[in-house]
Amino acid sequence: MARIVGGLTTSHIPAIGRAIADKKQQDPYWKPFFDAFPPVREWLDKVKPDVAVIFYNDHGLTYFLDKMPTFGIGAAPEYHHADEGWGIPTTGSFKGDPKLSWHIIENVVADEFDPIMNQEMLVDHAFTIPMQLMYPAEGVWPVRTVPITINSVQHPLPTPKRCFDFGRAVGRAIESYPEDLKVVVLGTGGLSHQLDGERAGFINKEFDLWCMDKVVNDPEALTKLSVRDIVEKAGSQGVELLTWIAMRGAMTGRVTNPHKSYHIPISNTASAVMLFENTPVPAAKAA
Ligand code: DHB
Ligand code: FE
Repeated sequence: MARIVGGLTTSHIPAIGRAIADKKQQDPYWKPFFDAFPPVREWLDKVKPDVAVIFYNDHGLTYFLDKMPTFGIGAAPEYHHADEGWGIPTTGSFKGDPKLSWHIIENVVADEFDPIMNQEMLVDHAFTIPMQLMYPAEGVWPVRTVPITINSVQHPLPTPKRCFDFGRAVGRAIESYPEDLKVVVLGTGGLSHQLDGERAGFINKEFDLWCMDKVVNDPEALTKLSVRDIVEKAGSQGVELLTWIAMRGAMTGRVTNPHKSYHIPISNTASAVMLFENTPVPAAKAA
């Protein structure tokens, strides 16, 4: 059976792509951010996941404001990146796993979720930057991928509780897949940031650290927030926290956090990186 072996949450700021292209990992501005990743790569090297299921928000590359699905699941054999206008180089393409994608789609629909199904799909910086951070060898991706989008752009957005439940449904779907696969789940975006409007540049360290604590040991606390609460506390783009909540929902075992990093700022954003391990909990014996 497929197993969710762990998870990763990370910011996905496009400027990271520029810094990678310009080899600025040791630059004093970038070093504290990039230093968060060697332990992540050591873990990936040890565990060797076969598939990455990536919860992220599309910023206008595959969907736009004219058509914006709440949840979307990729079911393509291959996903391409394209120029989004951020001035970052495009990455190579990413292998999909259509069979696993369709299994997830069938199961979440049976669980009463209604995602859009993408048999063709471009992936944006919220997908490509985390992949580059995990696997820095240029264009070499040792995992197949399943992109899963959560609308955090066009209001109304799904509630944190809905995103957590959606993540749970995706997690159940993955763990009912009959092939012996090791799956890592990602949530990308955040933490607090606001790119425009009167509060442009807004960052809330106290709230971010609270989220980083709750996401490990008490994720249900995050589901008690409303979208409005998150916008107020984390900024209008801080709602990308929804992808973290869904990722955490997918992990139903005993979840530990062997590594984390929090750094302000990278671009306009409080950058946060967290690595999770998910150990299965044996089902309780029936009384
Ligand atoms: C930035 C952050 C984002 O989440 C994003 O999608 C684009 C830009 C930034 O801080 O520059
Ligand atoms: Fe973003």
